[in-house]
Amino acid sequence: MSAGNARHARPATHDDIPAIWEIDSSATSKFGSIPTLADLADPAESDQKFQEYLGNGRVYVVEEAGQLMGYVAVCSADDAVFIEEIAVHADHQRKGVGEMLLGAVLRDAERAAKSGGRKVARISLTTYADVPWNGPWYKKHGFSEVEAKTIGPWHAEKSTSEEERSLDRAGYRRICMLLEKTLE
Ligand SMILES: CC(C)(COP(=O)(O)OP(=O)(O)OC[C@H]1O[C@@H](n2cnc3c(N)ncnc32)[C@H](O)[C@@H]1OP(=O)(O)O)[C@@H](O)C(=O)NCCC(=O)NCCS
Repeated sequence: MSAGNARHARPATHDDIPAIWEIDSSATSKFGSIPTLADLADPAESDQKFQEYLGNGRVYVVEEAGQLMGYVAVCSADDAVFIEEIAVHADHQRKGVGEMLLGAVLRDAERAAKSGGRKVARISLTTYADVPWNGPWYKKHGFSEVEAKTIGPWHAEKSTSEEERSLDRAGYRRICMLLEKTLE
């Protein structure tokens, strides 16, 4: 297998969009297994929002032998890199693709910290505390639950935004999580 065929993460291009939408709808179907969250099995983000992430050069994909397996979209907020979306195609889940995507986000956060003259790279997100592939998965990768306002005003506002409130479901707590890594 040539190096180009080996599994790797790279920035996404506009040509990747159809495959990314397919990943999204396949990945979110996982929520169909939880009756209270089953409506989330329909991907919610708009094409316009996604074009924005892409335009900012902040979408990364994991590819193997020309096939896209997962993607992550991030933005900068309050000195942190915030994960807007992360998804792995159902056919490729639980094989370390998500972990590889988090690696791409960490490199992005390290670059952002360096260019901002900061000594700590920070990655943040909002998620469901107790869905096995949400809070526990991030915790396994070094994230801790924090109060959104301790990260900064953008996160404080995000945690009470209409978008977040639309994800409220009885019995399923939404939380903000943070990973910090001191730069060498
Ligand atoms: C979250 C997600 C991106 C992880 O991708 P992944 O490639 O499967 O992740 P990894 O292979 O690196 O890690 C797999 C680990 O996740 C956890 N996990 C994933 N699916 C799980 C499930 N159905 N039940 C329990 N644990 C699960 C386990 O800890 C698993 O490790 P294990 O297989 O050794 O038990 C993927 O599950 C996904 O696309 N989910 C749907 C979209 C989503 O919820 N995104 C996050 C929004 S905040």
